[in-house]
Amino acid sequence: MARTPGFGVDIGGSGIKGCTVDLRSGSLADQRVRVPTPTPATPTAVAELVAAITSEFGWHGPMGVTLPSVLKRGIALTAAHLDPAWKGLAADKLFSEYCRVPVVVLNDADAAGLAEMRFGAGRDQDGVVVLLTFGTGIGSALFVDGELVPNTELGHLEVDGADAEIRAAAAARDDEELSWADWALRVSRYLQVLEDLMWPDLIIAGGGVSKKADKWLSLLECRTPVVAAALRNDAGIVGAAAAAAEGRVR
Ligand code: BGC
Repeated sequence: MARTPGFGVDIGGSGIKGCTVDLRSGSLADQRVRVPTPTPATPTAVAELVAAITSEFGWHGPMGVTLPSVLKRGIALTAAHLDPAWKGLAADKLFSEYCRVPVVVLNDADAAGLAEMRFGAGRDQDGVVVLLTFGTGIGSALFVDGELVPNTELGHLEVDGADAEIRAAAAARDDEELSWADWALRVSRYLQVLEDLMWPDLIIAGGGVSKKADKWLSLLECRTPVVAAALRNDAGIVGAAAAAAEGRVR
């Protein structure tokens, strides 16, 4: 049985968010704290902020931390929207030293997926489920009968000769000032490539832009049912906290 409460920190390309989490309901147990991701986002600059957030909550138990990276046994193997110094670094040890608590690290989209499967739009869904987070990049979490297949990097599928996230992340809509319809066309094209390779039963659309799902979800054209993430922007924090409470290390 998961401990309750838990604590999670979600590190993204633009913000670092942390909060205590009620692990029975999968909801935030307090007002979450958000600080901008430092530039450059070096390991020590990020770890200092994570430690500050942790002590702001007076947290002393196990905590989960997400990174926009492939992570194996606590080591970051990629660093998509962070400083390259993260590559090869034992991120779990770094955060543990700074925060003085046991730390589990996991990919940000995997954390969001765990939260959605447990408490949100993926609850009780078997078969193949893909959660996608549309933000600075595109993150993915793959579930087979509820079990996570960690570290899928489906945001980097090649679509029409380009890395998918460059054209279809939420950041592309902002940066290129695209209308919802024009952006939805790009997302549709991405989903069509993805579904031809993975044949999912359900796609869950997450990330900050899932808050505005009413503006774009109905514009998507693909054969797989697509639903909006239920936990919205808090899924990463909730999933991180759940992973730590379960001692989930891969
Ligand atoms: C990274 C993923 C990450 C996603 C969302 C991608 O660029 O490669 O690891 O999950 O961005 O942050």
